[in-house]
Amino acid sequence: MYPTRRNRRLRKNSATRDLVRETLLTTDDLMVPLFVVEGEKVNEEIPSMPGYYRLSLDLLTEELKTLQSLHLKAVLLFVKVDDKLKDNEGTEALNPEGLMQRSIKAIKKTAPEIQVFTDVALDPYSSFGHDGIVREGEILNDETNEILAKMAVSHAEAGADFVAPSDMMDGRIGAIREALDQEGFQQTGIMSYSAKYASAFYGPFRDALDSAPGFGDKKTYQMDPANRREALKETAMDVAEGTDIAMVKPGLCYLDIVSDIKANFEIPVAVYQVSGEYSMLKAAAEKGWLDHDAVMMEQLLAIKRAGADLIATYFAKDAAKLLQS
Ligand code: PBG
Repeated sequence: MYPTRRNRRLRKNSATRDLVRETLLTTDDLMVPLFVVEGEKVNEEIPSMPGYYRLSLDLLTEELKTLQSLHLKAVLLFVKVDDKLKDNEGTEALNPEGLMQRSIKAIKKTAPEIQVFTDVALDPYSSFGHDGIVREGEILNDETNEILAKMAVSHAEAGADFVAPSDMMDGRIGAIREALDQEGFQQTGIMSYSAKYASAFYGPFRDALDSAPGFGDKKTYQMDPANRREALKETAMDVAEGTDIAMVKPGLCYLDIVSDIKANFEIPVAVYQVSGEYSMLKAAAEKGWLDHDAVMMEQLLAIKRAGADLIATYFAKDAAKLLQS
């Protein structure tokens, strides 16, 4: 004990700190969310996400070059669907020539080594802005799973490496795995949003995709932020049904969940640092209240320290630039 043991010896200079550091963040840990829109030369800044853009397909090539030069290896794809294509069943989600399917093909053609993770959920395609089919104000579970399974197959056909169901219907992982295997896509992986909470931090994302629920909220399918053990139950079911990667979402407020899942399961754990987390820091930095880069790196490191093997983050490019310099 003190004074024999002096913990500050291990912090006395940067070389020593480098040698004993427990957690190392690298660009290999990061996934880049991408928002694709119809049109040409569209590069629209999302008002509630300063510095983040919706891109049209023709500009994706350039973006992929940037990601390659930063050694980023994975994208998480979302599309903004025209209002006139939306309906209750998310029919457009299954269109082999839909924006998602075209985006997957374009990325795999231009940058085949980049791993494409695709969002599987109805909300961007739903006239109600819900992740499932709506009947009399209820979100239907099993009927939705049938469409999600077809959607996953359609993404696999277009070349997706992993499908990422973000909907929180019960049993969707099993339905998706079975459909993928039946259609010969044994090598297409699943990254399930296993513990996805009904969070107010998704606000800016819903602006980005114009996907806010038209009535009610998502509390009948997304998890109650008050619950911790339930995340283990959700993850255990996803693992049993065949997910390859489990995801926790949002990030920073849910690091206890990340740590629990890491300790209890053998599969990789992903964390989604969501839109509201990004926007909060951007706003504080704009006001000069926080040091953007330092806080960003501290947050990503904290997510990794809690147990994340991979992190989906709107800061991926900013962080990769810093990590390279
Ligand atoms: C919907 C979906 C959401 C996000 C990813 N997929 C929002 C929601 O559940 O309403 C949020 C991502 C973010 O906030 O960055 N399936």
